[in-house]
Amino acid sequence: MVSSEIEFLFVLCLALLCSSCLAVGVTYDSRALVINGERRIIFSGAIHYPRSTPEMWPDLIQKAKHGGLDAIETYIFWDRHEPFRRKYDFTGNLDFIKFFKLIQKEGLSVIVRIGPYVCAEWNYGGFPLWLHKMPGVELRTNNQIYKNEMQIFTTKIVNMCKQEKLFASQGGPIILAQIENEYGNIMSSFGDAGKAYIQWCAQMAVAQNIGVPWIMCQQADAPKPMINTCNGYYCHDFQPSNPNSPKIFTENWLGWFKKWGERDPHRSAEDTAYSVARFFQNGGILNNYYMYHGGTNFGRTSGGPYITTTYDYDAPLDEFGNLNQPKWGHLKQLHEAIKLGEKILTNSTRDDKELGNSVTLTTYKNNVTGERFCFLSNVDQSKDANIDLQQDGKYFVPAWSVTVLNDCNNEVYNTAKIKSQTSIMIKKKDERGASDQLSWKWLPEAIKDTLKGRGKFQANQLLEQKSVTSDSSDYLWYMTGVHINDTSAWSNAILDLNTTGHVLHAFINRKFIGSQWGLVGEGFRFEKNVTLKHGTNIITLLSATVGLPNYGAKYDLIPQGIAGGPVQLIGNNITTDLSSNPWSYKVGLNGETKRMGKGQAWVNGKSIGRYWPSFLANKDGCSDTCDYRGPYKPEKCNTNCGNSSQRWYHVPRSFFNNDSNTLILFEEIGGNPENVSVQTVTTVTICGQATEGSTLELSCQGGRTISAIQFASFGDPQGNCGSFKKGSWEALNSFSAVEAVCIGKESCGLSVTKETFGLKNNGNINRRLAVQATC
Ligand SMILES: *[C@@H]1O[C@H](CO)[C@@H](O)[C@H](O)[C@H]1NC(C)=O
Ligand SMILES: *[C@@H]1O[C@H](CO)[C@@H](O)[C@H](O)[C@H]1NC(C)=O
Ligand SMILES: *[C@@H]1O[C@H](CO)[C@@H](O)[C@H](O)[C@H]1NC(C)=O
Ligand SMILES: *[C@@H]1O[C@H](CO)[C@@H](O)[C@H](O)[C@H]1NC(C)=O
Ligand SMILES: *[C@@H]1O[C@H](CO)[C@@H](O)[C@H](O)[C@H]1NC(C)=O
Ligand SMILES: *[C@@H]1O[C@H](CO)[C@@H](O)[C@H](O)[C@H]1NC(C)=O
Ligand SMILES: *[C@@H]1O[C@H](CO)[C@@H](O)[C@H](O)[C@H]1NC(C)=O
Ligand SMILES: *[C@@H]1O[C@H](CO)[C@@H](O)[C@H](O)[C@H]1NC(C)=O
Ligand SMILES: *[C@@H]1O[C@H](CO)[C@@H](O)[C@H](O)[C@H]1NC(C)=O
Repeated sequence: MVSSEIEFLFVLCLALLCSSCLAVGVTYDSRALVINGERRIIFSGAIHYPRSTPEMWPDLIQKAKHGGLDAIETYIFWDRHEPFRRKYDFTGNLDFIKFFKLIQKEGLSVIVRIGPYVCAEWNYGGFPLWLHKMPGVELRTNNQIYKNEMQIFTTKIVNMCKQEKLFASQGGPIILAQIENEYGNIMSSFGDAGKAYIQWCAQMAVAQNIGVPWIMCQQADAPKPMINTCNGYYCHDFQPSNPNSPKIFTENWLGWFKKWGERDPHRSAEDTAYSVARFFQNGGILNNYYMYHGGTNFGRTSGGPYITTTYDYDAPLDEFGNLNQPKWGHLKQLHEAIKLGEKILTNSTRDDKELGNSVTLTTYKNNVTGERFCFLSNVDQSKDANIDLQQDGKYFVPAWSVTVLNDCNNEVYNTAKIKSQTSIMIKKKDERGASDQLSWKWLPEAIKDTLKGRGKFQANQLLEQKSVTSDSSDYLWYMTGVHINDTSAWSNAILDLNTTGHVLHAFINRKFIGSQWGLVGEGFRFEKNVTLKHGTNIITLLSATVGLPNYGAKYDLIPQGIAGGPVQLIGNNITTDLSSNPWSYKVGLNGETKRMGKGQAWVNGKSIGRYWPSFLANKDGCSDTCDYRGPYKPEKCNTNCGNSSQRWYHVPRSFFNNDSNTLILFEEIGGNPENVSVQTVTTVTICGQATEGSTLELSCQGGRTISAIQFASFGDPQGNCGSFKKGSWEALNSFSAVEAVCIGKESCGLSVTKETFGLKNNGNINRRLAVQATC
């Protein structure tokens, strides 16, 4: 008996030990996240799992890790996981558990933003349409029907994570979770019900008992113990409402999303790094990039109105998963620099000293050990600064930049001095791959019935589109008949209608009379001269949505389609309002169900999203140069003026077969596919610059090697990648020294010393190496 009792105790002991050794607690104070007892600052980046493929995930995660991230953040996409009530889908690129486990395998943490409202430029902000259609429901407010559904879904996601032991409290990677999303931005529209709702959200979240902290972004009055956090381009001035909470930047926008008809927005590497460095200078604890990999809005997942299929976001990993250089590398070096100070930043007192002319020296000092770590910022938008810190050295701090000083006397980084590689990507025919000539077959949409006014059901009103379609399709047909006795009264008739958008195609008596769309996806008025005949005239209207809205107070209630009209026929001296005529309806186009698909495109049956190449970006507002200085906004540093807003569509490699492939284009407004081609994205040209004493690193991507050195100069080279020029002098063997180390290599590192270039003297100061190479 005794021995078995001991055994039992022993087993119990082991179990206790084990659960405590696996479990990683996450706590915090105002200076650190404390993970498993370690005081940490965290670099995190958003990668939304449904915006790539499971085949891409391992590579994206590894590149995030090499880029110096500690964590990957994602929303959870309710509409995709529960497309029909209580019918769930967690397969393919919706398998977020698999995604989390891959992140864990790389030793990174996870930040899960459950929402379940996500905004995210995602269709309908991530809400499933069945929720909108529940009688009595009101979304994102103190409504019992909505709250029940939100709680059921949140609990399901939490339980799935618990079951797989994914919370840090269970030994898993999840260190933070978010409930709701930017509710503070729109809360006032809901009055007291909004306040009650956010209280309920907090209680419901806490009751999930996940063992890691909950956050609420853009929620200044977040109920305790929720941590309120900041989203934007800059958050250094943000302070959490609770002085004991860590200062968290949940969305540091790395660029901006794009809409049909818009230019390509870019945010410079310098300004992004500036924003991050300012944040940590001012006591930041966790910075999450939105997005680190933006990816692709496959299928009909893009939000609206008018969010494009690409969600590149000018992220450090581009839509295709390639390094967006120099951004990726410049941020990697920033992470390394700030991490040098992690121990001090998380356990010290801070002192800010104004040095005049918008220059501030921030010193973090551990008052027992005396260790120091400094940030030296110059927030002036045009004036560079030369700063003398006496025994701690002299520093050149360009305008709108932050210098990171290890030990407060050693410049390890400046946000405006780019030392990382620049890569120029091109698209070109894959030498291994697709044959040039695509052969096309055509299949017209069968629309005989709808042109005759024959739908599937009727109503004596103009219905709201998404309520009818349940968003199963972009398309809804509206059809009615008008009997005309006296054609003389209608000899100059006009069809005049109002639609709330987004796109309209109109037919009368089986004849196409015109198409129209709102320029930014808003509603519009459609007016066309029509010829009416004696007897019954059939009016057929095809209305299309291009992504349901995802943002704003009560955005879910914004009507779509020809909701309410009015639709009128205007004669010489007579007007007939057809709005409450008997209208016949049909959802969708036949082509969609055949997966032919303005269109939509499929490769081997897998959707690569909507396409709209005829929609051109504004021809004004682009500039060849981009001044990183001054506050960023999406209109700054645009490219692609006057071109197709989206010309390239991402086909993940895993969508292709090895032999023959079928591309289906479902064309809504007519076009000619003769110039459609399949190309691959590759790095052709890479550039790097490094000062004497540092290392120049160059790297091709995707297994390619450096085949030629186009330019190499150790001296005082001038210009930029693509336009380098020899300066006033250079080391004679600049070229051969670089060739010797780099040719034939996938990546190479060259220590920039006088020995490397066979120089004896120390004569010239500020010696630099610039290299341009071909991959
Ligand atoms: C020393 O630093 C700790 C935090 O690291 C702080 O709580 C304490 O007040 C500091 N003491 C002095 C005298 O500044
Ligand atoms: C914080 O610094 C103090 C000295 O100021 C030291 O005693 C303590 O161990 C440090 N804490 C951690 C978690 O490093
Ligand atoms: C057209 O004439 C028919 C029969 O004469 C009548 O019932 C109907 O109301 C008339 N319609 C219109 C629009 O005047
Ligand atoms: C309307 O116009 C038609 C033809 O233009 C004319 O015959 C008819 O008398 C007009 N009716 C009225 C009410 O003015
Ligand atoms: C129809 O649209 C036009 C232009 O957008 C607007 O001025 C008009 O007020 C609308 N009419 C109705 C009845 O909504
Ligand atoms: C309709 O036709 C008339 C001429 O009959 C013309 O003056 C008018 O501009 C046209 N309206 C529209 C909307 O096309
Ligand atoms: C428009 O596209 C062409 C072809 O890709 C490109 O050469 C040009 O630079 C683009 N224009 C702008 C303003 O970006
Ligand atoms: C294509 O071929 C490669 C190499 O032979 C193989 O690994 C891969 O599974 C094949 N893919 C498909 C879709 O058949
Ligand atoms: C296809 O490209 C060729 C060569 O640029 C051009 O001449 C032709 O008009 C293009 N076809 C279409 C349908 O755009």
